[in-house]
Amino acid sequence: MKTRVSIAIDGPVGSGKSTVARLVARRLGSTYIDTGAMYRAVALKARRRGIRWDDADAMAALARDTSVELRPAAAAGVTSTVLLDGEDVSRAIRETEIGRGASDIAVIPGVRRALVSMQRRMAAAGGVVMEGRDIGTVVLPEAGLKVFLAGSVEERARRRFLELKAKGASPVMREVVEEVRARDLQDSTRADSPLKKADDAVEIDTTNMTIDDVVAEIVRLAGVRSG
Ligand code: DC
Repeated sequence: MKTRVSIAIDGPVGSGKSTVARLVARRLGSTYIDTGAMYRAVALKARRRGIRWDDADAMAALARDTSVELRPAAAAGVTSTVLLDGEDVSRAIRETEIGRGASDIAVIPGVRRALVSMQRRMAAAGGVVMEGRDIGTVVLPEAGLKVFLAGSVEERARRRFLELKAKGASPVMREVVEEVRARDLQDSTRADSPLKKADDAVEIDTTNMTIDDVVAEIVRLAGVRSG
């Protein structure tokens, strides 16, 4: 099934956004765009240059001067190939520390403006499945289908824990729960484009659903919307 409907998928950390969005895109022949990877790439670049994540002016200038390209995954264990100024940083951006940095720099309006305009250009031709925190509310308010993925903190932390273990790390459950809570708080309470369900988004509580169930539901909704 091919569709030109653009799909916006938002949700908190561990809601399954990346996995679900990638599989939905594959099923529909659409382009998958992971916007969190873009915030992560800019956070990584700042870290390498010794720029503080809370230096709003320097971070906004850095974001404006950065190119982030997303390509289909080229290696096992990554969801997309992420090119930062042409360099493949797909793995480096997945460090927990860089995720925290991405959440930190995401509060800066100048950083958001630079990345949102890049994201709109990527989606201009339609037929994308774009996931993040503000896609249905800010980036693609005209998306043909908006989905908000929810899930209990405990279940989302459990998924994150298993993901870290699978990568060979030795996570501590209590710390993972704290990290998930901290990210939820920062992402949903920031002044600019906080994580929140768009009024016209369909909310799916993934707590007791498998990935396949969630994908099937979104593909069904997309079929209904594209008529
Ligand atoms: O989805 P993720 O964990 O890779 O995202 C990392 C951080 O980037 C997340 O904590 C908040 C920020 N982000 C954002 O503010 N807006 C987006 N559209 C995507 C991510």
